[in-house]
Amino acid sequence: MESLKDKVLIPQEELSKPNDLTVLKNFWYGIEHSSNVSIKPKTISFMGHDLVLYRGSEGQIIALDGRCVHRGTELAAGWVEGNCIHCPYHGWRYEANGTCSHIPANQLGASIPIRAKLRSYKVQEKYDLVWLFWGDLPVEDCPEIPPLNEFQQKGWRSVQGEFTWDGHYTRVIANTIDMAHAPFVHASAFGRKEAPAVPSYKLEAGEWSGSGFINFDTKPAYSLKLILGTDHPSGVFRATFYMPNITRVDLQFGKFQFVLFLLHIPVNATKTITKWLHIRNFVTTPLADYFMRRDVVKTFVQDNEAVKIQAGAAPYDLTTDIHAPSDALELAYRKFFNRAAEMGWIS
Ligand code: FES
Ligand SMILES: [Fe+2]
Repeated sequence: MESLKDKVLIPQEELSKPNDLTVLKNFWYGIEHSSNVSIKPKTISFMGHDLVLYRGSEGQIIALDGRCVHRGTELAAGWVEGNCIHCPYHGWRYEANGTCSHIPANQLGASIPIRAKLRSYKVQEKYDLVWLFWGDLPVEDCPEIPPLNEFQQKGWRSVQGEFTWDGHYTRVIANTIDMAHAPFVHASAFGRKEAPAVPSYKLEAGEWSGSGFINFDTKPAYSLKLILGTDHPSGVFRATFYMPNITRVDLQFGKFQFVLFLLHIPVNATKTITKWLHIRNFVTTPLADYFMRRDVVKTFVQDNEAVKIQAGAAPYDLTTDIHAPSDALELAYRKFFNRAAEMGWIS
């Protein structure tokens, strides 16, 4: 068994290297759909940290550490009054800033320990999603939430959902921007096994983002097969990532377009939850929503079969595994990850 002495002997540079439990800090993390947050508190598991989310008296979202500082009870099992949350075990009351303001078992005049305080987190809502700031720098000095111009634009319709993956979030992110797997992983749907070569693509890098697109011959599946029929225009596939946990997939077939905007939440080293938006500019009737949702889930089920048999997190040392030209976009994500880690933006 590892002793305390062994732990102390781990060199500092090793301790500051990313590992399977690392998440980047000083970013806004998309963590939930707005419609899933109410006055009924809810636990969000974020790489081993439990957070609690609920709405206060003005409808604002409050985010605190999700475990009571008294005995570690899950606060989401408690109740909300105004902006405060009460622990279900001994009724301790926490204010929106995380301060404990009442201990029911205390006699009149007994003081509340100064350390009886939960960490509180900055939160904002955008695109009907909840964004939580995970970091210790002023938010003004940190990257902003990425754009999503199609959201609620005339002629576009959104559906939302979530999907649970059996894999590390870096693998899930890589999968959703991967240009080369469709002919194999999606062979039974839109993947064309007879044409696996990936055209070379130009990498477009932003401050904390990367994107690339390819033209390809389509093999529409699922709902797109019904919509496009036998007259398949060639397609454009664009994949984009935004640090730290967002990817976006754009597919365009002639005038038909859809966007998948994906928030990948690191739950723990082997589990990731993706909260997704699917935004389309065709068959915008709500009656088609069911089919859009079904198509997204079917596709992720196929992807998960590959992700769950990968080993651990994507290595931060880029020389550990071998790369092909088609991997340029994923490599860019890993380089951005390492850049943030070298800046000390890891927790
Ligand atoms: S465990 Fe929360 S009040 Fe005691
Ligand atoms: Fe896929």
